[in-house]
Amino acid sequence: MKVLESKKELNEVLKEWKSKNCSIGLVPTMGALHQGHLSLVKRALADNDLVVVTIFINPTQFDNTEDLDKYPSNLKKDVALLLSVSKEVVIFTPSQTEIYDGNVTSKAFNFNGLEKVMEGEFRTGHFDGVATIVELLFKAVEPTRAYFGEKDFQQLQIIQKLVEQSHLDLEIVPCPIEREPNGLARSSRNERLSQSTRKAAGFIHETLLSAKTKFGMENAKNINEWVFQQFHKNPVFELEYFEITDVDTLTPTTKIQKDRKYRAFVAVYAEGIRLIDNIALN
Ligand code: PAF
Repeated sequence: MKVLESKKELNEVLKEWKSKNCSIGLVPTMGALHQGHLSLVKRALADNDLVVVTIFINPTQFDNTEDLDKYPSNLKKDVALLLSVSKEVVIFTPSQTEIYDGNVTSKAFNFNGLEKVMEGEFRTGHFDGVATIVELLFKAVEPTRAYFGEKDFQQLQIIQKLVEQSHLDLEIVPCPIEREPNGLARSSRNERLSQSTRKAAGFIHETLLSAKTKFGMENAKNINEWVFQQFHKNPVFELEYFEITDVDTLTPTTKIQKDRKYRAFVAVYAEGIRLIDNIALN
């Protein structure tokens, strides 16, 4: 397993593989790896000749310095986890200066409104930061395919749009949400929850499942109200938003149309830690 910190070293490795016409799979991460990340790596290993996993905590996508400062980081543990899956993975873990060429700022993007709702509304500048770093990583690796989890479904849609708008020659592969045994969506942030709250957090997925059951029987407004009530009654979680949206436009829905696909999205705080989740409704 190679752990590389500079674009120059990475280029040397990639040049060799590309000269043999090999396919390259990219799994961008911010480290603190868990089973969710490993499922992306396994999928990438199955699809490609070489897999590059990037580990970089991207400062420009955090609107809250406390969240950035407390973001878990443990390269040794990440390397051990990746080794448990494959000895062949290349890890690219650049410094801020290296990946941003000394200019650690976001570009401004326009994704036709996809970036303005939900995560975009509550985390100012978040998607400019995500798109900036993902574009830089695409440029550094030039992958054949890149893998993103559906837990960050809005991010996934935005990256698809980035690829489309910039005419990038790569395939984005969406991967299903991995869950803890109680249904909590796997996330690096879960590590920061107390044991009792982590156990109680199965409530988030349970509520989404109930919303899915109600979908088709009740209108979106009633489902919204019901979800707000459930969170209001639960003292452990503070609901930031719950939305039922059209899958393609991510605009909140009031009227459900038979021929469209919908998804429900939620963001909550527990012990000051922000958790997100979503579910396909039809
Ligand atoms: O999903 C994440 O972990 C991050 O947003 C990403 C895509 C690695 C960009 O920093």
